[in-house]
Amino acid sequence: MLPPAPVPLDSQSRTRLVFGSGSLGRLGALAREVGMKRVLLVTDRGIVGAGHADRAEAFLRAAGLVVARFADVRENPTTLDVGSCLEMARDERIDGFVGLGGGSSMDTAKGANFLLTNGGEMKDYWGVGKATFPLLPLIAIPTTAGTGSECQSAALIADPISHQKMACLDPKAAARIALLDPELTVSMPQRVTAVTGVDAIAHALETAVTTRRTAISSMYSRAAWGHLMSAFPLVLKNPADLMARADMLLGSAMAGLAIENSMLGAAHSMANPLTAHFGIAHGIAVGLVLPHVIRFNAKSPEARREYSQLAAQLESPGAGDDEEGGVHRLVHSVHIAMQLGGVPPDLRTAGVEERLLPQLAVEAAQQWTAKFNPRSLNVADFSDLYCAAFQPFSMQA
Ligand SMILES: [Fe+2]
Repeated sequence: MLPPAPVPLDSQSRTRLVFGSGSLGRLGALAREVGMKRVLLVTDRGIVGAGHADRAEAFLRAAGLVVARFADVRENPTTLDVGSCLEMARDERIDGFVGLGGGSSMDTAKGANFLLTNGGEMKDYWGVGKATFPLLPLIAIPTTAGTGSECQSAALIADPISHQKMACLDPKAAARIALLDPELTVSMPQRVTAVTGVDAIAHALETAVTTRRTAISSMYSRAAWGHLMSAFPLVLKNPADLMARADMLLGSAMAGLAIENSMLGAAHSMANPLTAHFGIAHGIAVGLVLPHVIRFNAKSPEARREYSQLAAQLESPGAGDDEEGGVHRLVHSVHIAMQLGGVPPDLRTAGVEERLLPQLAVEAAQQWTAKFNPRSLNVADFSDLYCAAFQPFSMQA
């Protein structure tokens, strides 16, 4: 059950948002504003190949900064990746980080920032508020529209052996500035646009109903939902549509702000074991289970009301005002968006082995996001949800 209103809140925007087409050109001035003189640009080879790293570096140097580049970021960064980045940060005696890329670049920069300023190992920061000393300033520049990491104070770093992701949350780790330039997202391959977009849509939906949701997080969830659902079909149809790219980038950043206040829910709990066992991309894994989680959560009256309001946001007046119908229409909208995003229709098609469903359910129940879901779940509930997602999808369920 959701807590009764009014839900208390303690909310402070820690990250300054700078948004605009071509706003990368402000990077040098912004870095100086937050006191940087020697920066480490943390990025990946794809971003270097797209020319974005060179441009970012040129803007920093033009403003008189000394720049070192760590371009070895890998997807789902581990403690080993953070260690390599830390080594360079130490050698270069930097006083600030710029994370340029997807969530992995920002996570790697945040991870190295924890260790550079507070010492120890990543596992020391697993949990909430474990850092003692301030971290160096970070400017986060997303080149995908999905994770919302640029607006979050969490670093997600995996153990290299178990692949378990450690969520290291600390307000000190939040980026000082999120620089949102939609032009940087135009180079995203279609598949990345689709997968990251699905993830962002899931963030808007999950944050809208968690037990942690507040008036502030709800505002971000609804705004994100509106931006993302209107722009997602457009950006898939025409990748060069800068207005749609801008909506996706704003939507994913707002969903990130919602996560910062509201956390996530059961779809993310179920997605992580799918990624760990079958290598299914995070956005796809979330998308595979999302409609089923919505149906499960809609048995909570508060979640049902919120879902029907999200459905109404997409509709012309008079589409229907009963909450049951609203949930049905929401599941339909989400299902269409998942299809557009290339999410397979069910777990079987996605290559999941049926015999492992019980094990996945045990692991999903251990995920930290499960405890914020509007309806509490036990292993049997997760098992039912995985079984439902394994069957061919039906709007009649
Ligand atoms: Fe996600």
